[in-house]
Amino acid sequence: MQPIAQVLRAAAVPAPQVATPEDIEAAMTGLHPHVAGWPWRFEVYHPGLEGVLPSVKAFCSAVIRREQPRRWLSLLGPSGVGKTHVLKQALACLQSAAARGHWKIPTATGHRGPQLAHLVPAVDLEDFRAARDYARYDVIYIEDIGSGAALDRGAGAVTRSRIAELLQLRSGKWTLMDANLYRKEIEAQIDGRIASRLKRDGSWMCEVPQEVPDFWDR
Ligand SMILES: Nc1ncnc2c1ncn2[C@@H]1O[C@H](COP(=O)(O)OP(=O)(O)O)[C@@H](O)[C@H]1O
Ligand SMILES: [Mg+2]
Repeated sequence: MQPIAQVLRAAAVPAPQVATPEDIEAAMTGLHPHVAGWPWRFEVYHPGLEGVLPSVKAFCSAVIRREQPRRWLSLLGPSGVGKTHVLKQALACLQSAAARGHWKIPTATGHRGPQLAHLVPAVDLEDFRAARDYARYDVIYIEDIGSGAALDRGAGAVTRSRIAELLQLRSGKWTLMDANLYRKEIEAQIDGRIASRLKRDGSWMCEVPQEVPDFWDR
């Protein structure tokens, strides 16, 4: 008796293709398979969180596929609902896509690896040149753009104006951000032009309702 693999090879029968759950999800959702297969950890413990993960996945998929125009994703709403938790995963998913060669940035002579950054404004925008430096990155996550907004004077005002400057420079560039402010408050406390850009050109904006409790009080 010949082993079955040898019999199949001799008969030139192709090995059966088994679709993984990731392949099936990718086919059904139109997501890039790397994004569909990423081990996302995000618990939807309140209906107000339903839109978050699908938007994050759609953003990552669009980045890897280098779709145009380049857009923003903002998660706005109360503390402790997983905004930072899921956006850090988005950066990790994109880093991994770059490391595996799924995502490359074309240049005049070939291509290069993408540049990503996670910024905490009060720390990373302290230097007055920082906004211009981070404007060049392929993808950035600006954590808690509302953090400087509650403070009127001093460091808070500086941070807020640097966030506004950076976001002006990030127009048409892949950008993730979160805030404990809604769009109306961003308009009033940070910059009206930025608020109006949050939903422009198919950018993803998720406003998590105020009544969604903190993950640890769920
Ligand atoms: N929806 C969620 N699914 C899973 N874990 C969560 C979720 N929301 C919060 N957590 C947990 O709570 C911690 C704090 O959440 P975090 O992402 O910092 O909240 P936010 O940025 O919205 O203020 C996270 O590190 C994570 O352990
Ligand atoms: Mg956070």
